Amino acid sequence: MAYFTTRPETGRHFLHIPGPTNVPDRVLRALDNPPMDHRGPDFGVMMLQLFPKLQQLFQTTSPVIVYPGSGTGSWEAALVNTLSPGDRVLFCRTGQFAASWIEMAKKLQLNAEIIETDWRHAADIDAIGAALAADTAHSIKAVGVVHSETSTGCVTDIAAVRAAIDAARHPALLLVDTVSGIGALEYRHDEWGVDVTIAGSQKGMMMPPGLGFNAISAKALEASKSSTMPRAYWHWQPMLAINKNGYFPSTPATNLLYALDTGLDMLFAEGLENVFARHQRFAEATRRAVAAWGLETQCADPRAASGVVTAVRMPQGHSADALRRVILEKFDLSLGNGLGVMTDKVFRIAHLGHLSALQLVGVIGGVEMGMRAAGVPHREGGVQAAMGYLSGN
Ligand SMILES: Cc1ncc(COP(=O)(O)O)c(C=O)c1O
Repeated sequence: MAYFTTRPETGRHFLHIPGPTNVPDRVLRALDNPPMDHRGPDFGVMMLQLFPKLQQLFQTTSPVIVYPGSGTGSWEAALVNTLSPGDRVLFCRTGQFAASWIEMAKKLQLNAEIIETDWRHAADIDAIGAALAADTAHSIKAVGVVHSETSTGCVTDIAAVRAAIDAARHPALLLVDTVSGIGALEYRHDEWGVDVTIAGSQKGMMMPPGLGFNAISAKALEASKSSTMPRAYWHWQPMLAINKNGYFPSTPATNLLYALDTGLDMLFAEGLENVFARHQRFAEATRRAVAAWGLETQCADPRAASGVVTAVRMPQGHSADALRRVILEKFDLSLGNGLGVMTDKVFRIAHLGHLSALQLVGVIGGVEMGMRAAGVPHREGGVQAAMGYLSGN
């Protein structure tokens, strides 16, 4: 069995779905070390230097929990540790990931209150503020927002959400999903007053899938003491108690932790500000290509346009999935599919993680050639537009 999609005759596979993303060779080599005794002395030493690096990434002085798990598990951990069955939780349904998180909350018997959007904009900050201001009894216990909505390519301004909560003088916890934002977009857990940050390893962190994260504020930790939601694997308390010494209550994903350590070193060596600027530059180049093709992005608000993924709307009557199939077969390039109501209507170009300008030009070239091959109406010149921008920036 070959566990890779590379076809020898076409060179390296281009993986441009919005996670998992390309894993640098250095990180792959870190994975390729023998597992160590996770109760032995070396492991504790490794973790005690790794936790502060995670805090640096999340921009927090509070604990960051690492689960063998994924973004979905981290959603659940955030909900079950801070809330109780029947609690009101205010969500903004900005896209398919927000929708899935809401469905999970309902399964956990939370009372999800939903602010709808057209899935082409960021969360509606005014509506969040109004809902909280109207809740004079303070029965809404938390606000759940997706920072980087990977299905639409729209990003919500989390500092503005915090400002709306504060303006309403409301004590609700702020739970933020930045599964596709962390390590790629500016993120400030402490400064933005986030209570639980939810993340996963397989996107901006340049790692394989398999780790989930919860960064936790002191207020969230306090809430977890009175929460009555049943919880076992995801329970913060036993995890935090033993993490203090660099250990885990159950077997951690040892090799993924080696990869995490190396991936974080690479991000810090580049400098987080440079990493964020690189993502914005590549996103702008991609959007210029889309505009040159005469196509529309799913995100209709340029201020909310994502640095990590651009969802492109297909011309009426053309199938995004058929286009992606042609691009994969002819050029060995994987693009993200449309999710939920956007199925077959958009394709997503991921430009996050381990990525160079030349690679991005290749991706845009693959899309342009694919549209020509598949008979999708478009103007030529997307590659030129991207190159023009990247060579000047
Ligand atoms: C914004 C967002 N939230 C949550 C998830 C779910 O994470 P996972 O698939 O790692 O469980 C994803 C996955 O792509 C995502 O992009």
